[in-house]
Formats: sequence, C-alpha cells, structure tokens
Amino acid sequence: MDTLTSYDELPYDSLPLPETQPDFLAAVAKLHGFDAPDPSRAHILELGCAQGGNLIPLAWRWPESECVGVELSRVQAKAGAAFIAALGISNVRIVHGDLAALPDDLGEFDYIIAHGVFSWVPPAVRQALLNVCRRYLSPRGIAYISFNVEAGWQALQPLRAALIERTPADLPAPQRFQQALRVLDELQAEWSDPGLLKEIAYLRKAAPSYLFHEYLAEFNAPMRFGEFAAQLDAHGLRYIGEAGPRRAVVELEDAWGLMPEGMAGRWMDAEAALDEAHAIRFRRALIARGDAPCAQPPQAAALSGLAFHADLRSDEEIDLDAASEQNFINPAGNRFPIAQPAMKTAAMALSAAYPNALAYPDFAAAARQMLAEYGVAGNIDETVFRDTLFQLVMAHCVMPTVSALSYANEPGERPCAHALARQQANSPNWVVSGARHVALDLDAPGRVLLGMLDGSRTVEELAAAMRRILAKQALDLPLETVGELTRQQLWLFARQGLLVG
Ligand SMILES: C[S@@+](CC[C@H](N)C(=O)[O-])C[C@H]1O[C@@H](n2cnc3c(N)ncnc32)[C@H](O)[C@@H]1O
Repeated sequence: MDTLTSYDELPYDSLPLPETQPDFLAAVAKLHGFDAPDPSRAHILELGCAQGGNLIPLAWRWPESECVGVELSRVQAKAGAAFIAALGISNVRIVHGDLAALPDDLGEFDYIIAHGVFSWVPPAVRQALLNVCRRYLSPRGIAYISFNVEAGWQALQPLRAALIERTPADLPAPQRFQQALRVLDELQAEWSDPGLLKEIAYLRKAAPSYLFHEYLAEFNAPMRFGEFAAQLDAHGLRYIGEAGPRRAVVELEDAWGLMPEGMAGRWMDAEAALDEAHAIRFRRALIARGDAPCAQPPQAAALSGLAFHADLRSDEEIDLDAASEQNFINPAGNRFPIAQPAMKTAAMALSAAYPNALAYPDFAAAARQMLAEYGVAGNIDETVFRDTLFQLVMAHCVMPTVSALSYANEPGERPCAHALARQQANSPNWVVSGARHVALDLDAPGRVLLGMLDGSRTVEELAAAMRRILAKQALDLPLETVGELTRQQLWLFARQGLLVG
C-alpha cells in the first residue's frame, strides 16, 4: 500500500529509457555471445511500467510486437490505458495489478523489462519479480532488471538515514519532499564529506520522484553483485550481461580454450570486483533462463554483426591528420574523447546518419570514404578501429542495435509527424520520444508545433499559425523570425525521426 500511495501522490516521470529498448538489449546480448529473439516480432512485458512512457513507444515502433505492461498504481495504469485507447493501437495494454500476482494466461515473453523496481519493493516482491522472469521468459528470452549496487550505495547510506529520520513518514509525499529539501540545506551546513555534499547538490536538481524514491521510500535495498547472481541462480536464471554504460569491462586473461560454462564463476567474481573498484551504485543486468546457452564477457569481435547509431557533436575543429584526442558530446552533455582519425570520421558519419543506424561494414566504409574526402591518406588499422569502437559502445557514446529502421530525414512540403509524436505533444504529462527512444526536451511552442503536424499545412502556413499562437501569449515576433524558428524546429523533429513521408 505504501508503494501504491506514494507513486500516486508523486508519480515517477514515465520516460522512454534507451537502455531498455529490445533492439539494444539484443545487440548487447550478441556482444556477450547470446542470440536473442527478433525485437520487431517480440512479446514484451514491462513490470512496474508506470503510465507506459517507455512501453508504448516500443509497441508503436514494432506493430507486430505484443506488449503488456503491469503497474500497481491505479492512477498511472489508467493514464496509460487512456493514452493507448486514444492512440488506437491494439498491440499494447497496461494491466493494473501486482507483479507478484500475475494472471496465469499472460503467455511467454521474449523481453521482460523491470527498470527502477527490483531494489525499491519489499523482499517478497523482489523474489516474485525473479519468479516472473523464470516463469514467463521464452527459451532465448532476455530480462532486463536494474538494481542498486551496494558498492556505491554504502557511502550514501548516512544521507538516506538522515533524510528518513528528519522527515516524518506520515506526511503526504509532496509535503515530505519539501521537508526533505529543507533537510538537505541543514545537512549541507553540517557535513563536510565531499562525496555526500556532491550527492546533496545533485539531489537539489534531480526530479522530486528520484529523491523521494531513492532516499525517502521505505525500500531501497542495494545488493552486492555476487548476491544478485546467487539469487538468479536460485531462481533458475543466469546473468548474461550489462546494459548500462561501463567504464571498464571484464577481461578474463586466461580464458582462452575455456567453454563459457567453465568461465562463468570467474566472470561473476570479476564483475563483483569491478563494482568495488569503481564504487558502482547502479546496474542494468541482462538475464536469461538458466537452461539458455551460457553467455560470456563482451567481445569486440561480435561488433561486426551489428549496426550503430549516435547523436554526437563536437565544439572543436576536427583534426584528421593527427591522433590527438578530441571531444564528441552527446545530447546528455557527456563528453567522449576520440583520438583515432578513422573513428573521428566514423563518429561524424554516424551523426550525419542519425537517427538511422549504419551496419558495421557501411560504417567502416563511411569512415574510409570521409577520410578520403578530407584528403587523409592511409589505411584504417582495423583492429584499432574495432577496439576503439568497442570502448565507445561500452561507454554508450555509440549505441549498438540489431534493427535497421529507416526514417524520413527532411521535413517535406507539408510536414507530417507520426501519430504517437503528435499525441505525446498534445498530452500534458507525456514526454515526446525520439526514434531512438530518447526523451526529447521540447519547449511549449515546440510541442504546439509538433501537435499540429498532421500533413495538412505547408511550412509557411505552419509559421503563420505559430505566429498567431505566440501573439496570443504576448510574444509578437516578425513572421520572418517565426518562419526561421519553425524551420529549425522542423529539422530537429526530422533528426529525431518524428516525421513521416
Ligand atoms: C521507480 S518507478 C519506475 C517506473 C518506470 N519503470 C521507470 O523506470 O520510469 C517503480 C514503479 O513500479 C511500480 N510498482 C511497485 N511495486 C509494484 C508491484 N508490486 N507490481 C507492479 N508495479 C509495481 C510503481 O507503482 C512504480 O510505477
């Protein structure tokens, strides 16, 4: 009941989560030597799906998939069901209910997603979640479970303890959150530990629901990786890989000649050691049935069977003559230094193709061609190229996929956004999701424009309509200015794969 009430009072932002996309999960699994089912026809189950901000765009993208969401909060489940009904698609439904008491007739699932659930529910529900994975996963299906890791959370426990102690648990969630902000001020004045002060600064800017559910909610049970792996084992499941960005990956130096089954124990130990070395606080684990083929630590050689996409820019003038490190930046503001000239051109080629993905051979060819266009001679060192790409993929600078989708890359004469984007734009409390399952940060005029793009208006008519709308809000701009802003916004929509035709 506590979970139910707090989530109703302070709903979790229901966002598309790129790391949960089945085409990405299948690609990561492939890096681990595991073949997962085709995402475009998959049966997908999301546990604790909130209002469906993650699940509905997946169902929309793959009309032949069958998607089911389960959500304990009645408010959120109802909001999701209403959104689906208005969108008029029939391959997704949200069930209001407890994941620990699922109906028998749900069928089998190729992908089971549980993000932000495992560590934040009572112990019995945690066990039930693993049971659901064992019971409903198809033979080669993959479950994604994110959880808090003890290695990184140990140092943060005093902050959680202080916030819980100084904010009465019987206050309604919004008031308790306000009280917590005041406590953060007190703690900032009282404490000197740099790690805790950094976290306090982060919490001030984080979404209210994040602070609430990590620091005030009754359950937040970080776990050691070893304990997590043991629990999988006890439930007839096995770890097959990590879907989160990684600073380092396990390499088993003397693994040559070992069957994957034989290296599993050492691999698990090495993963646990990595958590300690890097104070990891969050994991996104990929899991298969215990009777599925064994996986292994990620291998760069598997990259050649995948495609890639990346939305990158650089503020520097790219130097292709020297192997000097230059920063490429993703929309989240993360910086990725790249030194190899061929990888710099590859990053540029990927960014130019975004949101489309390039298959490995096309990707390497595009890098070669761009090098030639810039007049840089010399062959690409394939091994360095592949190993550099591997690092960038592990860091989530470049995202791997198994799914080659194709998107319109310009607005056209009468721009038309797909129905999901228009409905998201027109619905308060819904985030607009880009083609690559990212949350788009649109301002109010951007949402209004997107909501209007039903293909009936020319760019000039759209600009005139936007001008009238802005004028009503006391923002009187010349038509030329509004026209320019409108065109810029339309190109941005095209870049995010929101336009059709
Ligand atoms: C932290 S939120 C995460 C929401 C979403 N998965 C995300 O990552 O944005 C946890 C969600 O799990 C739901 N939940 C908690 N216990 C549940 C249970 N026993 N059965 C189904 N849903 C549950 C909550 O209502 C809430 O919407």
